[in-house]
Amino acid sequence: MYEVVKSEKLTPDVIRLEISAPHIAKKAKAGQFIMVTPTEHGERIPLTMADFSPQKGTVTIAALEVGKTTKQLGRMKAGDKLFSLVGPLGLPTELHKVGNVVAIGGGIGLALMYPVVRALKEAGNHTINIIGARNEKLLMYEEEIKSVSDEFFVCTDDGSKGHHGFVSDILKKLIAENKKIDMVYAVGPIIMMKVIANITKPYNIHTVVSLNPIMVDGTGMCGSCRVIIDGKTKFGCVDGPEFDGHKVDFENLTARNKRYIPEEQAALKRFMEAK
Ligand SMILES: Cc1cc2nc3c(=O)[nH]c(=O)nc-3n(C[C@H](O)[C@H](O)[C@H](O)COP(=O)(O)OP(=O)(O)OC[C@H]3O[C@@H](n4cnc5c(N)ncnc54)[C@H](O)[C@@H]3O)c2cc1C
Ligand code: FES
Repeated sequence: MYEVVKSEKLTPDVIRLEISAPHIAKKAKAGQFIMVTPTEHGERIPLTMADFSPQKGTVTIAALEVGKTTKQLGRMKAGDKLFSLVGPLGLPTELHKVGNVVAIGGGIGLALMYPVVRALKEAGNHTINIIGARNEKLLMYEEEIKSVSDEFFVCTDDGSKGHHGFVSDILKKLIAENKKIDMVYAVGPIIMMKVIANITKPYNIHTVVSLNPIMVDGTGMCGSCRVIIDGKTKFGCVDGPEFDGHKVDFENLTARNKRYIPEEQAALKRFMEAK
């Protein structure tokens, strides 16, 4: 069992939990995820580590409450116990000094990009970070990401804070101004990552995206997380979750992530009616 040390809502639909898990915290690296099973008979879901502290022996997750299991996590308070955590899983972010790195996050991706941009900064890169959300109230990790940014941009779809528009607008502007960009890192909704990859492809700017296929075991055995990269089948859990954005078949990923919608809706209905 894994004790929740701290529980807080970042937005009305996003819960952040700091969990005691010393054996995971001491091995965790930026970009990796854990499989979380909240209750003994619950389902396992993959969540990226939004932070980890080997000193405190804790890992932090941030979950957008979209269905049964993430809503279960949304009700967890400090002192509650999670049935199981498995990890760290997946390949860590490749961290090199490449020069100017533009990191872009949207929605729940904001929580996930923080350890990555912190590590990119520590690796000696010039970090240009662009964060976006539908409106100001849904922005997260703003101060944390700003603190590891050499240049920092905020965007909201409704214009309530920063640039009125999409994160991709800022990227296009930087490219139009001939800003030297050595690498782009994007994490967020599939459509956002696809748009970013399409913008950088004609300029041949290396673009890394963090994919979120549906996972079951998280260890390369079930095949649920199949993604097509450069025409070849890869497993998101062991070959990723980060891939070259110019090689990802985003249409296939979008279609595969919709394949259990009736079952997901039924599970959520049963959960909400039972409580
Ligand atoms: C490597 C990896 C890391 C992830 N990290 C995070 C994270 O840090 N925080 C976070 O909030 N989410 C993260 N996700 C997505 C998260 O695992 C799903 O949102 C979760 O499994 C949904 O479970 P549920 O039972 O609450 O909802 P479900 O009932 O399973 O799904 C409800 C709805 O959510 C959407 N959904 C389902 N699975 C996914 C998925 N894999 N990706 C995107 N949308 C999905 C679908 O629209 C679905 O209809 C990650 C996914 C992967 C593969
Ligand atoms: S989740 Fe089963 S193979 Fe990746």
